[in-house]
Amino acid sequence: MWHAILPHPQTINERSGSFQVDRTLRVFVAGTAADDLSWLARVNLAVRRIAGWNGDLLAVVTKREAAAMWIEPRDQEAPGYDLSVGSDRIVLSYGDRESIAHGLATLCQAILLAGGDATVVLPAVDIHDAPHSQWRGFMLDVTRSFFGPESLSRMLDVLWLLRLNRFHLHLTDDQGWRLPIPAYPQLEQLATYRELRTSDNQMYGGYYPHAELRELDRAAIDLGIELVPEIDLPGHASAALTAYPDLSCSGAPMSVETRWGIFPAVLCACKSQTREFFQSVYSTVAEVFSGRYIHIGGDEVLPEPWNECSGCSQLDSPYQTIVRSMADAVLAAGRRPIAWDEAAGLDLPRETIIVNWRDPSGAIAALQKGYSLVLAPERKATYFDHKHLDSELEPGRLGVCTITDAASFAPEQYVWSHADRSEAGGGSILGGQANLWTEAVRSHRNVEYMAIMRLVATAQGLWSGAPAVRSDRFFDALERLRRALFLRGFAVYPGAFS
Ligand code: ACM
Ligand code: ZN
Repeated sequence: MWHAILPHPQTINERSGSFQVDRTLRVFVAGTAADDLSWLARVNLAVRRIAGWNGDLLAVVTKREAAAMWIEPRDQEAPGYDLSVGSDRIVLSYGDRESIAHGLATLCQAILLAGGDATVVLPAVDIHDAPHSQWRGFMLDVTRSFFGPESLSRMLDVLWLLRLNRFHLHLTDDQGWRLPIPAYPQLEQLATYRELRTSDNQMYGGYYPHAELRELDRAAIDLGIELVPEIDLPGHASAALTAYPDLSCSGAPMSVETRWGIFPAVLCACKSQTREFFQSVYSTVAEVFSGRYIHIGGDEVLPEPWNECSGCSQLDSPYQTIVRSMADAVLAAGRRPIAWDEAAGLDLPRETIIVNWRDPSGAIAALQKGYSLVLAPERKATYFDHKHLDSELEPGRLGVCTITDAASFAPEQYVWSHADRSEAGGGSILGGQANLWTEAVRSHRNVEYMAIMRLVATAQGLWSGAPAVRSDRFFDALERLRRALFLRGFAVYPGAFS
């Protein structure tokens, strides 16, 4: 059973004997993880929802001898964990805080595969495990379709189960602005809803009160995941400019976009108001989200409004000017800027992380500039808005990404199959992520259908550093996991096996 865990742990040695888990494991926690034990409640919730476990899996005891499970630090603080299941005890030793979540996710997946409920028998094993890529992410677009806090919380469970560690929220776009900014109250009033263009004049949208996001942020940390909020500017700004048209070059009125596409809704690169806006927005983001990063967007900017602006047209490169001011404002807010690869050739702070989504030249440009790099290639491994199969019966748009396509991806292999190592400059490859744009994904069930199965493949590539297709047991393990998740009510895509 341990060999069916996905992503595959680095080394697995099954031993004779077994351990029976009866409803609750009495756990003794040592090290920094014991300072505040509130994370256990969120793990218990995830085990209930993922594995169908009836009750709390983990209950803390203060006496080591009384515990059936020990969670204790290793001597050295580095990513990775050891999970040892013996006949009388389970021992999880963790390298860093995040690794506790990974060890418990492996245990939870074993429980899921063993049938869940409130009693399972686990074969004795020694697992030694550590991630290859430090950035293992999933992006959800909450603008084209809006997903409430319960949906985001359920996705956290899935990311945790797959030992992913970044949950990127695409919070603003032409079709909606989802994060209230106290200094700009009209965003909440005018930028969060759009006309649905149905005959009954309904509106569509919503926003996240800060308290909801703080709760999500806390839950993510409890599961070893960092939230990555994205405020996509200076393009994709129809919603922002509906609320504050003065932030554009012309100041002309706009409305929250109801169509899909790329629009000339761009912030002015020369007005001081736009810089004040950035400061205000990023300082709010930094108050709400505890993570180290703020994604500033930077993709698909149409320059026409700048060409027609008396101030912007004087600038050497309005795009360089405005993206630099955004990245600087993120640094001033104490966070590390991230941008899509349109910005890879710009002069930005050296801390900047570039996400390569277009052709591989953007990845090479980022490395040559010395930026850190995250891979999320649209063609054709990590864009989960694409269909599972080339069929008019399948949901999705703009392309096809089969499970095998997703399973053919790993960051380094992707970069070095498109470029010579001698071309790379001082930049480093952090890892990768999958993106789910939601123009054609309206419900949480659709999110699961589009994301989960392909995300398992992505997770395998990121955790192991090699494409999942190189593992001879990946597809058997994937089918076992699919059945188990299906029985738990997840809307997993069945096509590859049906
Ligand atoms: C993107 O797909 N526009 C980043
Ligand atoms: Zn301008």
